[in-house]
Amino acid sequence: MSDSARANPVAVTEAATLVNPLREGLTIERAAEPCAMVIMGAHGDLTKRKLIPALYALFIQGLLPEGFCIVGQSRTAMSHEQFRAAMLESMRQFAADVPLADEEWRRFAACLYYLPADFARPDAFQPLAELLAELAGRHGTQGNNIFYLSIAPSLYVPVIHGLSAAGLAASRPGKQAPWPRIVVEKPFGHDLQSAQALDHELHGVFGEHQIFRIDHYLGKETVQNIMVLRFANGIFEPLWNRQHIEHIQITNAESIGIEGRGSYYEEAGNLRDMVQNHMLQLVSLVAMEPPISLDAEATRDERTKVLKAIRPFNPANLDQQVVRGQYGPGWILGQKVPGYRQEPKVSPESRTETFSALKLFIDNWRWADVPFYVRSGKRLGKSITEIAIQFRRAPHKLFRDPAGDDQISPNMLVLQIQPDEGISLKFATKQPGPTTQIRWLSMDFRYGTAFAVRTPSAYERLLLDCLVGDASLFARTDQVEVAWALIDPVLRAWNQGPPPAFPDYSAGSWGPPASDRLIEADGFAWRRL
Ligand code: BG6
Repeated sequence: MSDSARANPVAVTEAATLVNPLREGLTIERAAEPCAMVIMGAHGDLTKRKLIPALYALFIQGLLPEGFCIVGQSRTAMSHEQFRAAMLESMRQFAADVPLADEEWRRFAACLYYLPADFARPDAFQPLAELLAELAGRHGTQGNNIFYLSIAPSLYVPVIHGLSAAGLAASRPGKQAPWPRIVVEKPFGHDLQSAQALDHELHGVFGEHQIFRIDHYLGKETVQNIMVLRFANGIFEPLWNRQHIEHIQITNAESIGIEGRGSYYEEAGNLRDMVQNHMLQLVSLVAMEPPISLDAEATRDERTKVLKAIRPFNPANLDQQVVRGQYGPGWILGQKVPGYRQEPKVSPESRTETFSALKLFIDNWRWADVPFYVRSGKRLGKSITEIAIQFRRAPHKLFRDPAGDDQISPNMLVLQIQPDEGISLKFATKQPGPTTQIRWLSMDFRYGTAFAVRTPSAYERLLLDCLVGDASLFARTDQVEVAWALIDPVLRAWNQGPPPAFPDYSAGSWGPPASDRLIEADGFAWRRL
């Protein structure tokens, strides 16, 4: 037994396994493989709010493998028991939608361990190797390990080197040989160059098939449903192109601010935090060609092709393609909230954008000349993420449109990603009565009412996929690079240009006036949400 394991004796002595019979109703396509999951950054918010609730939810659905255990690591000194108690407390605080029963938690907690570590120190990894070897015997993990990096990006490289030096990163040859996998949280690099440098370090130690770059948007139910809607139904695909679609609007609005993450956000800004990853993944899912299969490479190939086809921004008239904004003080839901520059750990002269809006063109046969408008921002009027597909108007006017004499309203398909997940189709109908009056109505599908089940968190799906070894819903190295290559010139231009007139929108509004001008210049308007 390692010193640290001795210092933190495990209260539950029998080897616990995670078998659970609650599998009814679930079709399990591929089984999760036995392994230990090491969460680096176990004291952080992500572990408490997302990772442990997701793993426990998988456990009660019987989706974890029999041979499984979790090792939490962070700098804070804690015993296994203290870690288990802290995780139970976070379940109570953050996972109200996951049923928590004493007996099940006891069995789950028996597979939770904790090992303090300073990841910057090369000697932090040998005790981990020893504990994992011991747990392999105790829990039947077969020596397979997943390392989940939920730590400051500056620690990624020391961790990669430390794992390698401790012999934890190498796959042994042979089909049944133990494997390592590594999950890397965003931000994946700060720009193209740093993303490539990080990839170089990762590839020095892990194979691409062992690297899982997480983008939690890809794990959201509604985001996965974009592919199902498009490719499991025969009726949408024939309309899904420039002949029938006039433009597409993707909105990600958050009413929250930066939630105490001033130091991170000052370095990141909205373009890096939301657009380079989450928003571009949404664009690629809406615009991709049908893949030949659901295989990880086939789907990722198609998503990457979309990103490669996005027309690079022209620095000569950048303002007509990308705008930015920063919130000042304002009101949200009747509460007065401070401006970005008044947030803790934010410079009073900060140039960091908390909002951006972009006009993209995808230069291929399907999408030539169809604008994709993308907007994302913090402290907006309300929290909502949606994709609105606006179809071309009926070519000949037979009926009087309520929008006005010379108007024909367009049909619109709205994929509501969150909250109130669902799909709506807006269409014209005859209002009952002796005259022909048109009314625009919407046909609505809502997950909540249609299925009446809990929507699993994105992390449940993504962690399970990682346990199974399926990387389809994770970003591949070339995707990350293409996305940075698109965004980098904008960031450079912003950095080199004169300081923006920030703040330029009030908290609680819908962003700066420049955002409206961006879309209105083409004769369209942002949807009012
Ligand atoms: C994270 C960003 O990746 O996504 C946050 O760092 C943002 O700034 C969050 O708030 C939004 O995620 P969701 O799932 O709440 O839309």
